[in-house]
Amino acid sequence: MRNLIDAARSVRARAYAPYSNFRVGCALRTVSGAVFVGANVENAAYPQGHCAERSAVSAMIAAGEEGIAEVAVAGSGDGPCAPCGGCRQLLFEHAGPGVPVYMTGDTAEVATMTLGELLPAAFGPQALDVAGASERGAATVTGATEASDEALAEARAFGPRLGLVLGSGLAPVLDLLTIEKTYDLEALLPFAGAPVEGHVRSLHLGRIGDLRVACVEGRAHLYEGDIMAPVRLVRLISDLGVGALLLTSAVGGIRDGLDAGCIVCVDDHINLTGINPLCGANDDTYGPRFPDMSEAYDRHLLGLLDAASARCGVPLEHGIYAGWMGPSFETPAEIRMMRMLGGDIVGMSVVAEAIAAAHAGLPLAVLSIVVNRAAGLEEGRLSHGETLEQGRRAAPKVAMLIEAFAEMFS
Ligand code: HPA
Repeated sequence: MRNLIDAARSVRARAYAPYSNFRVGCALRTVSGAVFVGANVENAAYPQGHCAERSAVSAMIAAGEEGIAEVAVAGSGDGPCAPCGGCRQLLFEHAGPGVPVYMTGDTAEVATMTLGELLPAAFGPQALDVAGASERGAATVTGATEASDEALAEARAFGPRLGLVLGSGLAPVLDLLTIEKTYDLEALLPFAGAPVEGHVRSLHLGRIGDLRVACVEGRAHLYEGDIMAPVRLVRLISDLGVGALLLTSAVGGIRDGLDAGCIVCVDDHINLTGINPLCGANDDTYGPRFPDMSEAYDRHLLGLLDAASARCGVPLEHGIYAGWMGPSFETPAEIRMMRMLGGDIVGMSVVAEAIAAAHAGLPLAVLSIVVNRAAGLEEGRLSHGETLEQGRRAAPKVAMLIEAFAEMFS
C-alpha cells in the first residue's frame, strides 16, 4: 500500500493542471502485480480534462493488462482526494467491489475505502450484457467488505502466535483447533482468479492447547491466475503479528520411498513455476527488493518438527520441494527432470508463499503430505480427487505432528 501511495504522489508532481492548480496522481496495481500510474491533464476546454485515474487506466489498457487489485489516489490539499463519479465507474469496470482505494492529499492522512463503498450502485458491462465482460479478471475479483478493517484489527487483537495454512484434503486437521472466530477470507482479501471448485476460504482464530493460532483453510494458488494472491495471504498472516508460519501441502513423491501417506518436512525448494510472485514494484514496508533465500525454511522450526515427530511417534522425512505452477500435473519427462535437479517432492503451492515469507522475514516451516507417486513413477493417472482422498487419510497423523509441534512452540 505504501509503495502505491508513494507512486501516486510522485506522478502527481508531473500533472498538467494550470487551470485548476489541483494536481492529482494515481497509481494502480493489477492482479499480475504490474503498476501503472497517471496524472491529471487539463486543457483550456476545462471540463474535457483527463483525470489521473483515467490516465492510469489508459496506460494499463494500452499495456494489455486487465484486473485491478488496488488503487492509490493522491490529490492536492489537506484532505484525502476521492475519485470522481466517472472515474469510480471506470475503475469499477476493471476491478471488483472489494478492491481497496487508498486516498490521500498533501498530508500523511490516508483514507481507505473499497470500490463497492465508493460506488455502491455501479452498473457495468455485465449489466449491459456486453460480450466477454464476465470473463475478464475484474469480474472475478471478490473482496473486502466494509467490515474488513475492523475484522483484521479484531484478529490482530486476538494475538495469534502461529500462522497455519491447511493444504488440500487436510481440513480434518481443524479438529485440533478450538475455534473462537471464523472469518470469510474472501471478505478480508481481494482475491482475483478462479478458485478450485468446492474450496472454501476461511481464516479461523483459535487455540491448539495454549497456543493461539491463525489458521487459513483454502489458500490461493498461482494457477488460479492471481499471481500476487499467495503474497497477499502471507502478508495478511504476518500482519496479524504471528511469530512463525507453518504451511501444510499435498505433494507428489519423486524420491524412492516417498509414497502416499509419507509426511515430508521441506528443507528447501526449487522454483520451477516460471514466476516469482515478488515481480513488480517492491513493497518496502514488508521487505527488501532482493530478499535473501538462503534460509527460507527456518532451522529452529525444522528442529522443532523433528522433536515433535520423535515425541508423537509420527515419522517425518526431509526433502526438497520442486514447485510447479500447475494446474496440469507434470509429465513423466518433467518429473525425471525434477529428480535430476534434486527435487524429492513436487507440488503447486508453497513456493510462492515461501518467497513471500522470506521477503517479510517471517520464519517458516512446511509439512508436505505425499498423496501420490509423481507422474510416470507408478501405473495409473493423477487426479485432484485422489489428492483430496489421500490428504484426508493422512490428516490424523498430520494433526498429531502439529499438536506436538504446538506444545513445543508455545
Ligand atoms: N504434482 C503436483 N502437485 C501435486 C501432486 C503432484 O503429483 N500431488 C499433489 N499435488
